[in-house]
Amino acid sequence: MKTINLPPYAPTLMESTRAIGYSVEAAIADIIDNSLAAQATKIGIDFFPIGDEYVAIIDNGHGMTSDEITNAMQYGSKSPNDVRDFNDLGRYGLGLKTASLSQCRKLSVISVCQGKMSGRRWDLDFIQEVGEWSLLVLDNDDIDKLPCIEKLKPLKNGTLIIWQHLDKLSIGEIDLAASLGTKMDIVRDHLSLVFHRYLTGEPGLKKVELRINERPVIAADPFLSKKSAQIMDAEIIIHRGNQVIVKPYILPHLSKMSGAEMKALGGKEGLRRQQGFYVYRNKRLLVWGTWFRLMRQGDLSKLARVQVDIPNSLDDLWTLDIKKSTAIPPEEVRKNLSNIIKKITDGSKRTWTFRGKKEIDDSKNHLWNRIKARDGGIFYEINRDHLIVEEIIRKYPEIKSKLKNLLCQIEGTIPLNQLYIDLTNDEKINNDTYIDEIMVMEIVKSILDDCESADTKVAMLNNLKITDPFCEYLDIIDQAIENGELI
Ligand SMILES: Nc1ncnc2c1ncn2[C@@H]1O[C@H](COP(=O)(O)OP(=O)(O)OP(=O)(O)O)[C@@H](O)[C@H]1O
Ligand SMILES: [Mg+2]
Repeated sequence: MKTINLPPYAPTLMESTRAIGYSVEAAIADIIDNSLAAQATKIGIDFFPIGDEYVAIIDNGHGMTSDEITNAMQYGSKSPNDVRDFNDLGRYGLGLKTASLSQCRKLSVISVCQGKMSGRRWDLDFIQEVGEWSLLVLDNDDIDKLPCIEKLKPLKNGTLIIWQHLDKLSIGEIDLAASLGTKMDIVRDHLSLVFHRYLTGEPGLKKVELRINERPVIAADPFLSKKSAQIMDAEIIIHRGNQVIVKPYILPHLSKMSGAEMKALGGKEGLRRQQGFYVYRNKRLLVWGTWFRLMRQGDLSKLARVQVDIPNSLDDLWTLDIKKSTAIPPEEVRKNLSNIIKKITDGSKRTWTFRGKKEIDDSKNHLWNRIKARDGGIFYEINRDHLIVEEIIRKYPEIKSKLKNLLCQIEGTIPLNQLYIDLTNDEKINNDTYIDEIMVMEIVKSILDDCESADTKVAMLNNLKITDPFCEYLDIIDQAIENGELI
């Protein structure tokens, strides 16, 4: 049989692959993948939106020789079937080109390897002109004219990627500087989450310093791991001789999170939408906030987040896409994940139902919670996180279990029938007359006495003001503050 050699027409193919669907944050993450695979410990991203606008990404990784850059610039520089180093974040031999040219028309790559510098460029306008895969070889003069080059020169090894002619970034924008500013914030948030384990460092993973316009990117830990409960040990699923490690976390209840922590976790709405698996490929976050259709995202599981670590040797099974933004667990792993889901969502439900899924949802902390039971019906529960209950347990930890028994007894023996009869007979129930101002102030003072600093006193007072029964006595509390009796 005859064959015809039919290479793609460069201008068309290069223009078409621009539409793979990269967002700017995913494109930059792809470039950073390369820096991390090159063992970089310092990575800088510079956005320059004025005049000849550019985006530059510089790293102190091992760099590339002149031949290596030529190879790196080729579409399909490595086969997706090659066995990769265990810490390589690449797969398709495309990212450097497709991610960059999805955002710009001119991609320059300059690298120093053992002090020797070389540079190459893909310029889409030039490709259109010549109609071929013509890679530009930059000489010293060309290199010297590039922005940020002064940052690369002092390095013995490292790489500088420059995107110029940012046509896709400026599409539909009147004020590029302002819109780039907003996009930068999105990029910062994305990178702080996607690379959070690199930014924090962990055993076997060197800490990496990442800066955007010289400002450090701070790791965003989606598990709030210092505060969260790890409700079960990590499970190891062995698949095709490789380990998939699954580590479930239950986030602390909302009342235990600070405003900043809550914001970092995506706010109240974010908590719901971002529950689910967090899949890391070589410690780099790939997909998150999904249960892979193994269950629905519900209110009761909103505190559950599960770290799943996969190695790059299972890429084919997880159907990794070119942008590294989707991955689907193979059947074998899905089965195991289903079992784990069951165990952890039970835990997450407990955190919620124990706290009480309050029927009357105001912003106050009540002593009694009205709870809608999972299996139907209503029950009334004394709020174990109420300040008074917490204070007693803190002061007298030895009676914790006795107190718990007492509370259960009170809850279990409310004289409901009699109450019902009294209420329907319009009897006045005078229980609350036992609480008076003196008693309330005594408790307030005792709680505040236990606060160590003025700051914690102020925080506690603010808390008291939204807590039953203190919120009913705001006047006398404010008066006491004014008189200097409380702080
Ligand atoms: N910053 C860098 N430092 C050193 N080498 C690099 C750097 N960036 C790219 N390379 C080299 O260029 C090659 C091509 O990169 P490219 O991102 O196109 O593909 P890949 O990383 O192999 O796979 P993928 O398409 O999955 O990202 C890499 O395999 C690597 O050898
Ligand atoms: Mg890559």
